Formats: sequence, C-alpha cells, structure tokens
Amino acid sequence: MIEAKELSLIYGNQKDEEYYALRDINFTAEGGEMVGIMGPSGSGKSSLLYILSGLKQPTTGTVYYHNTILNELSANELAGIRRKDFGFIFQRHFLIDYLTVLDNVLTVVNSNEKAWHEKAVSLLETLGIAHLALKKPYQMSVGQRQKVAIARALLNRPKVIFADEPTASLDHCNARIVMDVLAGLKSQTTILVATHDESILEQADRMIQMWDGRIIKTTRPSDLLHFYQEPK
Ligand SMILES: Nc1ncnc2c1ncn2[C@@H]1O[C@H](COP(=O)(O)OP(=O)(O)OP(=O)(O)O)[C@@H](O)[C@H]1O
Ligand SMILES: [Mg+2]
Repeated sequence: MIEAKELSLIYGNQKDEEYYALRDINFTAEGGEMVGIMGPSGSGKSSLLYILSGLKQPTTGTVYYHNTILNELSANELAGIRRKDFGFIFQRHFLIDYLTVLDNVLTVVNSNEKAWHEKAVSLLETLGIAHLALKKPYQMSVGQRQKVAIARALLNRPKVIFADEPTASLDHCNARIVMDVLAGLKSQTTILVATHDESILEQADRMIQMWDGRIIKTTRPSDLLHFYQEPK
C-alpha cells in the first residue's frame, strides 16, 4: 500500500558537500502492518518518514501510495491525501496554545459535529487525559501534550499513521498506553513508527534497521532476545 523504490535524499547542493541522508531505499508496508523504523541518531529514520508521507521530496526514486505516485502530485493533491488518509505524530507536536485540548484534537476534522466530539472525548479517555479536555496545552506536561497530539492524529481514522518517536516524552507506563492504542488500530491502519527504543515495538510486525541512510536489516520482535520484560 505504501512502497518506496530506489529512494535517495541528498542534503546540500554543492557537489563536494553532497550528503546522503538516504540511499538505495526500497521499502514496502502493507495495509494493516505495523513497521518499526530503528537506527541510531542521524541514520535517516525521520527523513524516510517525511518522504513516505509526501512531506519531503526525494532526490531520486518513487513513492507509491496504492497506485498513486506521491512525488508526482501537485501540492494540493498531496495535501488532500494527507488530510484524508494520513495521521502524523511527531516529536514536536505543534499544538495550538490558545485552543483547548479538545479543540486541538478537533482541528483535523474542522467540525464541531457531536459524533466527532464524542470520538475525541473517547480517545482522550483511552489515553487517560479526558479530565484535561478543557485545559490549554501550555497548562500541561510534555507527556500530556504528546498524548493530545496522538489523539489528534487518530481522530479521523487515518489509513496510514506516521509516528516519529511517538513515545519520546513519555515514561514507560504511558509509552505502553500509547503503543497499545496504536496496536489496537493495526487491522485497519498501516503504522510506521520511527524510534530509538525497541522496547515499544513488541507489537510491531517487523522492524527495519537503518544505518547511514540505508536499510541494513529487517527483523521481527521475536528475533530480539533482549526485549524489555516488565518487572514482576
Ligand atoms: N535539513 C537538513 N539539512 C541538512 N542535513 C539534514 C537535514 N535534516 C537532516 N539532515 C541530516 O540527514 C541525516 C538523517 O537525518 P534524520 O533526521 O532523518 O535522522 P534520524 O534517524 O531521524 O535521527 P534522530 O534519531 O536523531 O531523529 C542526518 O545526518 C542529519 O544530520
Ligand atoms: Mg528523527
């Protein structure tokens, strides 16, 4: 459903300063799959998510979403697909400080219909922050704000979720809540999660390992012997 062929991304325009953030990337994610994107800082995880979601143009290569070539669409067509089909969870979450939590979540649907309202409240409940619905983002902790951003990303039932370090500002217990919510969407949603923290990927179907802009390996959670075990 999302496929990247022969992607590369070069930063810098001077020939001798060319820097490959990504090279020779071939990647496919099927509908309903959760794929972890792992690798050290600077290995290209965020760059890959940006390109797969159409937020960034690759230097070479092609991104297919179903049969559509994302990097040949106009800005408007791309924005339409992103709004309708994609959900984003980023490290920096861009909440609007003068709106309440509930209204921040509702911005993605741009509607105050009762059904959306109820869905938003129910997501906040699942994430354990329904009591904060009428607060403003600046009145909340970093972790709580991250959960608001997650509720916002999930509200319109996206077909693909791009999550860049979705649990970075959360403690382990809250990280688990967030990953359980994401895993609960798996059958209808493709979920791509970039992270340093493999312990959150227990429920992933597979993980790709990145190194210096390349995919060097694909693993499955069961391949990792040292998976984090909940203390008894
Ligand atoms: N705007 C930019 N201009 C130039 N180089 C960039 C830019 N953005 C990223 N890079 C470089 O591209 C490479 C890949 O960066 P990217 O952010 O994709 O890595 P990452 O795996 O997400 O890292 P992290 O784990 O720190 O988030 C890095 O070497 C980075 O320095
Ligand atoms: Mg990153």
